[in-house]
Amino acid sequence: MNKSPTSSDCIPVDSVAAVTHADPYPFYAELRAGPPLVWNDKLRLWVASRADVIESLLLAHGALRVRPAAEPVPRAIAGSAAGEVFGHLVRMNDGAAHQAHRPALQRALAGLDLNAVHTAALQVARNVPSQPLSDALFSMPVQAMAHLLGFADQALPQVDRWMRDFVACLSPLSTAEELQGASIAAGELMTRFEALTADATPRNGTLLAAVLAESDAGAPLSRSLLANIVGLLSQTYDATTGLLGNSLIALMREPSLRQAARTRDGLQAIVEETARHDPSVHNTRRFAVEPITIAGTPLAVGDAVLLVLAAANRDPAFNPDPDSFTLVRARRRMLGFGHGMHACPGQALACTLAAAGLEALLGRTPDLDAMRERGWHYRPSANARIPVFH
Ligand code: HEM
Repeated sequence: MNKSPTSSDCIPVDSVAAVTHADPYPFYAELRAGPPLVWNDKLRLWVASRADVIESLLLAHGALRVRPAAEPVPRAIAGSAAGEVFGHLVRMNDGAAHQAHRPALQRALAGLDLNAVHTAALQVARNVPSQPLSDALFSMPVQAMAHLLGFADQALPQVDRWMRDFVACLSPLSTAEELQGASIAAGELMTRFEALTADATPRNGTLLAAVLAESDAGAPLSRSLLANIVGLLSQTYDATTGLLGNSLIALMREPSLRQAARTRDGLQAIVEETARHDPSVHNTRRFAVEPITIAGTPLAVGDAVLLVLAAANRDPAFNPDPDSFTLVRARRRMLGFGHGMHACPGQALACTLAAAGLEALLGRTPDLDAMRERGWHYRPSANARIPVFH
C-alpha cells in the first residue's frame, strides 16, 4: 500500500490546518476563486490567497505590521531570554528596529559566493548522520549555516541542538517546558555568538565577519545585532528543512526528475521549483495599525490577516500552468519568500543549502520508491510544511 499522503480524501478545515494537510492545493484553488479577502470567524482573521491581493498586503507597510501592536513579543516568552531575541529580530519588527539591521543583513547575504557555499554546505551535510532522516533534514542546513557563520566543526552538533530548542519560541503550539528550553538555548546562543564575534575580523571570510563589516559594528556588540545574528540560524531552520524535505518528496513522486538530480544545476532547479510548487512556508500574517482598504475590503485597526503564500504561488494569473512541476519556467514567480520591505534576504542561500543537502542525501543512494511506499506525514505547525518520513 502506498502511504504517501498524495490524495485528498478530506479537505482541510481551514487555511491553518491546510499547511500540514496531505494535499492542500485543491482547497487553496477554492479559496482563490472566492472573494479577495474572506473573514474566518474561527481563526478570527481575514484570509488572502490571490497573488495580486497578497502583493498589495505585503506592500502596505505603513498600515499593516508584522506583529500585533499590543503584543510585540508573544506573552508566553515576554521577559525571557528567548523573548529578548524574538523582540529584536528584524523579521518581527517594523520601523526603526527593522531598519537598524535589515540593510546590513541583506548586504552580507547578497555578498555570499553561492558556489563556495554549496561546496562547504555539501561537506557539512556529508558529515551529518543519515538516520533518522527527518533529523538529518534539520541538521544539514542549520549546521551548514553555523559553519558559514564561523563555528568550528566540533561545535556544529551543539549549535544544532540549541537551535532545535530555540525555535520552539517561534511556534504558538509549544508547551511551557519547550518554551523554557527555548530560553536556555537563546541564552547559550547569545553567549557563544558574543565569544565568536571577538575573532570575526573582516579578513576571516565568514558570514559573521561580513555582517559585522556591513553593520559598522563597534565593541561591545549591541544585543540587538547579536540577536539578529542568532536570527540568521533560526530563519534558516524550519524553512530550509521543509524545502529540502519537500524537494525530496518531488523526487519520490516524479521519477522523471531523477535524471536532473545528477547535476548541481539540476538539483538547484528542482529545489527552486519545489519552493514555488510545494513550499515550506505556507503563510505569514499582518496586523492593521491604521484603517486600510485592500481589494475593496476595509480592514479596521487591530484586524489580523493570514496571507496564504503557498496559494498565491499556484495562482494561474501569477504562474501559467501552476499545478505542474516544471523544471524550466520562463519566469518563475513566487511569494513563498515574501515580498516588499520584509522579503526574505536569504532566498538564494536557502535554495543553495537545500540543493547541497539534497546532493548529500542522494549520494547515500536511497531507494526513493521504497521511501515513497513507506510514506510521510507533516510536523504539526501553523505555517511550515515539514515532512516526517516513516
Ligand atoms: C526555504 C527557506 C526560507 C523560506 C521559505 C523563507 C521565507 C521567508 C519569508 C516568507 C519571509 C518574510 C516574512 C514576512 O514578510 O512576513 C522571510 C523573512 C526573512 N528571512 Fe527567510 N526564508 C527562508 C530561509 C532563510 C534563510 C536561509 C535566511 C538567512 C540566513 C533567512 C533570513 C530571513 C530574514 C532575516 C527575514 C526577515 C526580513 C525582514 O523582515 O526584513 N531566511 N523569510
